[in-house]
Amino acid sequence: MKISLVALAIAAMGAVATAQQGGCPSPRVRKEIRQLTPKERDNYRRAIYIAHRSNKFDIFAELHVNNTEPAHGVPMFFPWHRRLLWEYEKILSDAVEGVTLPFWDWSMDAIKPENSPVFRNDYLGGNGRQSDNVVATGPFRFWKLTYPHDQPPHFLKRIFTPGPNNITPFWSTEALISFIKAKDNYADLHDTIEDGPHATVHIGIGGDMVEMYSPNDPFFFLHHAMVDRIWALWQNDRSSNFYQYNGVDKFNNNRKVQASDILPTLPSKAQLPVSDFFDTKSAGLCYVYEDNPTWTQAVKALDQRNKSKNNLSRRAPAGNFVSSVIDFLFGSRGDDKKQPPADPVKFEESRKAAAQQAAKDLGYEGLDISKIPKEETKLKEPMKNPDSWNKMNNLDPKKVEEIHAAGNKIIEDLNNDPNYIPVAALYNAAVSQGVVDKPGPAPTEVPPTPETKPTENPQPSIPPSQSPSPAATPAPKPTPAKTGGNVATFTNTVTKDGVPSPVVVVVHY
Ligand SMILES: *[C@@H]1O[C@H](CO)[C@@H](O)[C@H](O)[C@H]1NC(C)=O
Ligand SMILES: *[C@@H]1O[C@H](CO)[C@@H](O)[C@H](O)[C@H]1NC(C)=O
Ligand SMILES: *[C@@H]1O[C@H](CO)[C@@H](O)[C@H](O)[C@H]1NC(C)=O
Repeated sequence: MKISLVALAIAAMGAVATAQQGGCPSPRVRKEIRQLTPKERDNYRRAIYIAHRSNKFDIFAELHVNNTEPAHGVPMFFPWHRRLLWEYEKILSDAVEGVTLPFWDWSMDAIKPENSPVFRNDYLGGNGRQSDNVVATGPFRFWKLTYPHDQPPHFLKRIFTPGPNNITPFWSTEALISFIKAKDNYADLHDTIEDGPHATVHIGIGGDMVEMYSPNDPFFFLHHAMVDRIWALWQNDRSSNFYQYNGVDKFNNNRKVQASDILPTLPSKAQLPVSDFFDTKSAGLCYVYEDNPTWTQAVKALDQRNKSKNNLSRRAPAGNFVSSVIDFLFGSRGDDKKQPPADPVKFEESRKAAAQQAAKDLGYEGLDISKIPKEETKLKEPMKNPDSWNKMNNLDPKKVEEIHAAGNKIIEDLNNDPNYIPVAALYNAAVSQGVVDKPGPAPTEVPPTPETKPTENPQPSIPPSQSPSPAATPAPKPTPAKTGGNVATFTNTVTKDGVPSPVVVVVHY
């Protein structure tokens, strides 16, 4: 593996940060998963199946667990996960040429995450079933996982939290943008993102995602690509951010971290310093994140809002952490920000007008603003991290609480603004009204059952010509195992609510 050390040299010289284009003339583009073409989505899914089949997938869960301490609750969090994604992406693109890791901008789904298209069967599938939390629909149904070793292989689980039919609100695009703008210090950005917005997504999906072996769920990588994107956006926001790396390693007598620290290894055993992972456009990494329309819209809207507020007389930021963040971001409006507008009718009219304009800017043709339920026009507070999560991830509960308070302040401020409508409200409405992201056909491919551990019943197969749509299949007649062309089809008996029922498994490779 070759990684440019240019980044390190430049950081050491204290040069102005600019992306190194030299060895990376055409970076891979990581897109928001909803921006993938159906063909790209198919290839992405197929690459995961192939990686899983060749035992290159489960290893990430084990490595993640093994690196709990050096890579969680400490500044190493961002660069180590950047490396993890990069190695995973390499495995995917080796499996299917041209595949790039997508990201999932879960902040689009902040208001009603369970409504997100990503949980449909034409994306990654939804919640585990009630009886045992096993994911039994979608492309990762009965996705067999060999880690942890100390229990028999299990099927992928999801436990929507607080559930069963809803997921805690996620952190909004607006809050993330605000943090990116407000944080001047790497350690502060890292704590905020890891402890707050990052944690909430793991907790909300639950099951494997809320364990240290969360890379078992393909959602892990989509989620962390978003986390990585937040770091990249922050790095690129101001030149003083790009090569910043600071904070303390609490597992090491609070030693001050340095850009020359070596990352714990992943499938590749190369000893690489943190500084090799600053520049996503370096020869070694060579990727960028594509802009995503709701994000761009929120940046614009917040900027506008900020400008008109800064036009008013502004009080110097002062006081505690929370109020200074707010003052810094939006300009203090003194005590008036606490007061609801005098006339609730006018308030709603203003918000509607703002929504109409923003929907137009987003290209949501035909979105009926008046049909958006009032409670869905407002941002909601994400649930608190369970103590078990903070403990497992080495997070300081006091700090976590502060971060949630800062995020909730941002929510309150926006919800009280008659001229602001959150982008997640518009996106959620556009999905509900079928204006964007209409359901596509469910994929015909479903995961291979792993061959690492043969089951007692040999899996019978039917010829590909008879391969039925997996969703609606009457029990097919088992025939001796057989592989035809590059398609293998077999049935797998699963127990559903105590009743064994056959599931047809079609594997393309
Ligand atoms: C993870 O740690 C365990 C226990 O130390 C070790 O046996 C195992 O080989 C490690 N796994 C990997 C992939 O490094
Ligand atoms: C700021 O105030 C000036 C003078 O009242 C006004 O002309 C201008 O449009 C305002 N700018 C914004 C961005 O609100
Ligand atoms: C709001 O304006 C202040 C002062 O001009 C600026 O420092 C801050 O980054 C802006 N915030 C956003 C969210 O644009």
